[in-house]
Amino acid sequence: ERLALKAAFADKFAIGTALNLNQIYEKDSKAKALIESQFNTITAENCMKAMYLQPREGEFNFKDADRFVEYGEKHGMRLIGHTLIWHSQAPGWFFKDKEGKEVSKEVLIERMRKHIHTVLSRYKGRIKGWDVVNEAILDNGEWRQSKFYQIIGEDFVRLAFQFAHEADPDAELYYNDYSMFLEGRRKGVVSMVRKLQEKGGKIDGIGMQGHLNIDYPALSDFENSLLAFSALGVKVMITEMEISVLPAPKQTRGAEVSTRFTYNKQLDPYAKGLPKDKELLLGQRYKDFFALFLKHRDKIDRVTVWGVTDGDSWKNNWPVPGRRDYPLLFDRNYRPKSFVADIIDIA
Ligand code: XIL
Repeated sequence: ERLALKAAFADKFAIGTALNLNQIYEKDSKAKALIESQFNTITAENCMKAMYLQPREGEFNFKDADRFVEYGEKHGMRLIGHTLIWHSQAPGWFFKDKEGKEVSKEVLIERMRKHIHTVLSRYKGRIKGWDVVNEAILDNGEWRQSKFYQIIGEDFVRLAFQFAHEADPDAELYYNDYSMFLEGRRKGVVSMVRKLQEKGGKIDGIGMQGHLNIDYPALSDFENSLLAFSALGVKVMITEMEISVLPAPKQTRGAEVSTRFTYNKQLDPYAKGLPKDKELLLGQRYKDFFALFLKHRDKIDRVTVWGVTDGDSWKNNWPVPGRRDYPLLFDRNYRPKSFVADIIDIA
């Protein structure tokens, strides 16, 4: 038996994965075995997003989230709450009044407060850290024109962190975003976090979503952002890591994805399996990133992969639906990829 990932990195950083509903309810014994042997921290892939927790105003549904928390506690895992304030997977009612008109700033702030207070109070002392705000900044460093931003203005970020801190003073509070390696987003996030800190806000960490590709981005760009964030005096976490081997439609390279793509065979070259040489490249890429994380282990608190096996990955359906991707550490038969042993060896 090889050393497990979590054991190999035990004195460096926590090793996590995202759990889907099937896994939360322990319906898949092979996935369950991997989750429990390889990882020491878990994030709910979807069930703690606002559209599931509060599908209608004042109607909270904690069934799946409760189950996630109970499962993690049973196995002594570090629990991460994902995510409170995000433009995506937020219920439509959040921004509208009964007549369907956009709500005022005051109403939206009150809805944010109630959502955050209700959720954090329920899991007070049980969830170690929350992705309080997700994806507020664009590639060019400007504010995303989300409903939260349009209705409240940039203060929505400070308020979200304030509400979270009020509800669970001991919980760690994080800002999480993707393509953090881009210079524009790096600068935008640094300035947003600085402002939050100057106003006395509590922020404990920055999550760099690791939605990576086999040939993009450059390690040095990722490293620059990692250092810039750490210099703010917060923990850095690599969240949502996977390395897609599939061609990314041009528009998705460091650009906002507003286009809907349709399936096409050219974009799905490994429908019958991943050739050995590609798997080697993928392994090298994983090793390069883990080597970078190890180099900065004093700054990195946690590395979380976005799913257990390739079959679980959202990349099979995003940004192009119906493809076959191979972006995770375990294959569709629950076997560790050949390079997992190498990652363990460099730990
Ligand atoms: C994704 C999930 O993996 C999918 O199952 C879901 O359909 C859409 O959301 N950034 C985030 C994550 O912060 O919550 C997203 O997760 C991926 C992008």
